[in-house]
Amino acid sequence: MFVCKNINKVFDDGQNKNHILKNINIELKEGESLAVTGASGSGKSTLLHIASGLEDACSGEIIIDNIKMSQLKDYEQSKFRLEKIGFIYQFHHLIKELNVFENISLPLLLQNMKKDEVFGYVNDIIDKIGLSKRKYFQIDKLSGGERQRVAIARAIINKPKIIFADEPTGNLDNKNAKNIFSLLNDLAKINNTILMVATHDDQLTQMLDKKIAIISGEIKSL
Ligand SMILES: Nc1ncnc2c1ncn2[C@@H]1O[C@H](COP(=O)(O)OP(=O)(O)OP(=O)(O)O)[C@@H](O)[C@H]1O
Ligand SMILES: [Mg+2]
Repeated sequence: MFVCKNINKVFDDGQNKNHILKNINIELKEGESLAVTGASGSGKSTLLHIASGLEDACSGEIIIDNIKMSQLKDYEQSKFRLEKIGFIYQFHHLIKELNVFENISLPLLLQNMKKDEVFGYVNDIIDKIGLSKRKYFQIDKLSGGERQRVAIARAIINKPKIIFADEPTGNLDNKNAKNIFSLLNDLAKINNTILMVATHDDQLTQMLDKKIAIISGEIKSL
């Protein structure tokens, strides 16, 4: 269960106070997916960052699996994120110097999983994303769509409770966007993972269970 309770965020540059998120409340159950839409600058990325613990809210509470994020110490929060949260960035943030296999392995190695176990898991997901022939390619030798597949695999490899995806297909053409997004959606459903996606794309929005828009800092159901 994911709960976002009365979240407020104000950016204060000393002269102006910009109240970006106003009393945001969201609840998602296991396996549910949510599209977060809204104009550019409406606060979608800010909401995802707060929900995943990358950024602090001014007030309110994020609760994942009955654990209040604010009650965790910094190192506990890092561990929690590693184990329970996957994040897919718009520009994937993969490690260029590592190959496909190594990038996807990282979250498991950081959790001290044994190497032969990692091998099985990672090979399996590389098959699912259709990149078996690119397994040992460096990231900078892949196309944009292929990189995005690797980013999805890396986010989902340790079966997180919840995945946040910020414009996961923002830099892809229509057909690739749909294919890659379907893959993410299917994997999330298989693992009963909660999926929260910021997107401008109506086609993707329609594929998700719930839809909201951020308008003037407030949430409207669509
Ligand atoms: N660190 C910051 N300091 C001050 N203002 C910020 C900061 N981060 C974001 N903002 C402002 O908050 C607003 C919301 O930004 P955010 O990135 O969440 O929008 P968004 O909905 O994701 O937009 P886009 O669709 O363009 O990605 C913007 O006006 C932005 O300028
Ligand atoms: Mg954004």
